[in-house]
Amino acid sequence: MALDKPYKDVPGTTIFDAEQARKGYHLNQFCMSLMKPENRERFLADQEAYLDEWPLNPRQRQAVLDLDLNTCIEEGGNIYFLSKIGATHGLSFQQMAGSMTGMSEAAYRDMMVGGGRRPEGNRLKDLDGWTAPVPGEKAETMRQNAPARYTSALFTSHVPAIGAAMDLGKTEEPYWKKVFDGYRWTRAWAKENKPDVVILVYNDHATAFDSSIIPTFVLGTGSDYPVADEGYGPRPVPDVKGYPELAAHIAQSVIQDDFDLTLVNEMVVDHGLTVPLSLVYGELGPDEEWPVRVIPLAVNVVQYPVPSGRRCYELGRALRRALDKWDGPELNVQIWGTGGMSHQLQGPRAGLINEEWDNAFLDHLIADPLGLTEWQHMEYVDEAGSEGIELVDWLIARGAMDDQFGGGAPETDHRFYHVPASNTAVGHLVLTNPVPVPKDATAEDPAEVPVAGPVPATA
Ligand SMILES: [Fe+2]
Repeated sequence: MALDKPYKDVPGTTIFDAEQARKGYHLNQFCMSLMKPENRERFLADQEAYLDEWPLNPRQRQAVLDLDLNTCIEEGGNIYFLSKIGATHGLSFQQMAGSMTGMSEAAYRDMMVGGGRRPEGNRLKDLDGWTAPVPGEKAETMRQNAPARYTSALFTSHVPAIGAAMDLGKTEEPYWKKVFDGYRWTRAWAKENKPDVVILVYNDHATAFDSSIIPTFVLGTGSDYPVADEGYGPRPVPDVKGYPELAAHIAQSVIQDDFDLTLVNEMVVDHGLTVPLSLVYGELGPDEEWPVRVIPLAVNVVQYPVPSGRRCYELGRALRRALDKWDGPELNVQIWGTGGMSHQLQGPRAGLINEEWDNAFLDHLIADPLGLTEWQHMEYVDEAGSEGIELVDWLIARGAMDDQFGGGAPETDHRFYHVPASNTAVGHLVLTNPVPVPKDATAEDPAEVPVAGPVPATA
């Protein structure tokens, strides 16, 4: 079940993947700092003092001082980043490349002038016992007794005004009480059903990402995410702790599953991520801690084209395959889909609410997620308002559930719908996957464990 990394055995080669990137994060960021002339000057004037500013491990630090690029690479450095060190010392790329081969500078240059290193004898396929790798197939059934267990999906609106109502102590006012009453069950449930990690699908609202970069799917692979200042000052809630090891694993698996995610190690998180946490875990001050670690997964719904419901659903399936490949510690994982429901925040049609459509969406999400993937963008925008498109976020959490991999249908533990919260309708669902059969009750070979057929795409 391990991740597919056949490139690890290519002779004399280290592939810079999510695992290496995590190991070499500070080393590579140090290298990037040398892009500025004033930093190069300071580094050359006193290398030890400059390196004191970077949390490198002792081996990384010594390798930088020794200009030992092979060790830097072992320690997570990437050659494009590391070349900034060589450039700072006035070395050419040829000198840097040659320094890693054990050859003299002249011998390396002569080899390159002579046509370069020959591939024969330098390939994986030239090694004794090599066999061609078989391309992996995408799993259509779930892994039995997987260490990372997707227990429940939670879906909720993430209206900023809900966060403001909590932050300003207005939750008992009649207007807001009707909203918060719908989460009373969830808060009690959350106390008894605490996951180790929440993969929290949301959309950034022109907060972490401005017009300079429009990533379609962003996976947070960092360890901490500060709460954003969205113009009113940061919400008085705790910063968010990530889960870099699991996030790196997910990145590796999902990208190999044909989803080209944008990986972000540093970003602020806005109300799209913090309001759901507040709704579920209640009022917590900035000096406290959220009771769960969070892997942010942000979907672009700000600028068209945005991903389709179908694409989001398929990303959910890729996410589930990634969880099923996890061989680390046992984890209770929840995936939350947030955003929506119907709302339009712009123009003469602002304030649009479509209660009937919203509830049809909830019905289909529960019982017919595959059918829901047929709904086009126009359907969301026309019926649920221009910002109702946020609902595609929910398809990711649903596409990862057991019944989409031949398992049993989820229980609908809780359903709530209310109008209004500020300019929007509020929708909320908790769906729970069936409790798995205990280990000793299953066959030895996971392949022998019978699974139900795939869920038909009924209307
Ligand atoms: Fe939103």
